[in-house]
Amino acid sequence: MENMMEKIVSLCKRRGFIYPGSEIYGGFQGFWDYGPLGVELKNNLKKEWWKTMVYNRDDVVGIDAAIIMNPQVWETSGHTAAFVDPLVECKKCHHRFKADKLQVQSCPECRGELTEPKKFNLLTEVYIGTVEDSKTRAYLRGEITQGVFVNFRNVVDSTRIKIPFGIAQIGKAFRNEITPGNFTFRSREFEQMELEYFIKPDEKNGQVIFEYWKQERMTWYLSLGFTKDKLRFREHAPDERAHYARKAEDIEFNSPFGWSEFEGIHHRGDFDLANHKLTYTDPEANSEFTPWVIETSGGVDRAALFLLINAYFEDGKRVVLKLHPKLAPYKAAVFPLLANKPELVKVAKRIYDDLRKDFYVAWDDRGNIGKRYFAQDEIGTPWCITVDFDTLKDDTVTVRDRDTAKQVRVKISELKKYFNQTLEDKK
Ligand code: GAP
Repeated sequence: MENMMEKIVSLCKRRGFIYPGSEIYGGFQGFWDYGPLGVELKNNLKKEWWKTMVYNRDDVVGIDAAIIMNPQVWETSGHTAAFVDPLVECKKCHHRFKADKLQVQSCPECRGELTEPKKFNLLTEVYIGTVEDSKTRAYLRGEITQGVFVNFRNVVDSTRIKIPFGIAQIGKAFRNEITPGNFTFRSREFEQMELEYFIKPDEKNGQVIFEYWKQERMTWYLSLGFTKDKLRFREHAPDERAHYARKAEDIEFNSPFGWSEFEGIHHRGDFDLANHKLTYTDPEANSEFTPWVIETSGGVDRAALFLLINAYFEDGKRVVLKLHPKLAPYKAAVFPLLANKPELVKVAKRIYDDLRKDFYVAWDDRGNIGKRYFAQDEIGTPWCITVDFDTLKDDTVTVRDRDTAKQVRVKISELKKYFNQTLEDKK
């Protein structure tokens, strides 16, 4: 299975999904850059999430808060004190390791003696302004969540939304992770897609809403092409939970490096709003209370990585990324059968220009058709359209399906309908 990760990493770099960050300067551990195909995959994923979590619901609105906030936010939220990993340091080579993950008593790098565990804060410090002292110190947000809480009152006052309701957000978060690794799985800069759902404080209702969101989120991942056997829930033991959580369950993915956290569903109770001294007044009952929060928090980068792993198949010499068509970077590729026949190129270009008004479409006129198919299979393009000599006679083209390699003739005028219908069928 390790081999599998090597294949994914290599494909990502070779075809422009993900590159090592700052690579020409030797890289920078825990930071990754998304290439032309990676950014499409991530954008499609975020679009789907937003559609499901905001547009298709009456009880959720979205926001986009600043990455850097008043540092007081992180004091109040408990992150400066409790957003920590226990670390041990080697007295000889000074490498640091997560204490809870280390099974051995000596340094895994040089066998040196280790210190007692010390707490290491994961927040990334930045200095705003010109003087580097505690007055100008701020933090890159360690979770995007606090931006929602500090805007709770603004959203209530500026919209007609009433409890129960949610605020959704997608954005970058930063953690000074001690052991970034498994490709993008644990990075120091990553994107989160989160919902904070505000409810009346009530034990039973809290459990019901928690369970509801668990199932909603699992259903969403299944709709992206993950199968049930690759996903599971895992409840956090009390000593594993983040400082804000009363209850936490992860959706995990069975990855090449074992069952791994995909998304967290957290019952945050009134921890955050009470700390920020924020309340809600029920307009009907005219009663004031501190709402509870049920949170769903997924990683965009983890989802992109797990989607790539889940979609990767080898079929003889062919590598196929069986990404759900709604997530695939290109929806289709258009080829003239022969690049040196202007009559074929002209029709193919016309089709390409027409399709790209609605879909992101690739163009390829290099090499032979077989090679072009293989190149598109490897990046997950669901359909390849070939313009050949029959096209000039009957206005039909060959549409080849990525997963089955089957080919059908489709009228040029019916192409958009064909793709839209197939996208609809695969929902
Ligand atoms: N607001 C709650 C929160 O941040 P979390 O469990 O710490 O909860 C939520 O993080 C999700 O963010 C994780 O399930 C994962 O998908 C993603 N995530 C967390 N740390 C990450 C990292 N270092 N690299 C990539 N993704 C990460």
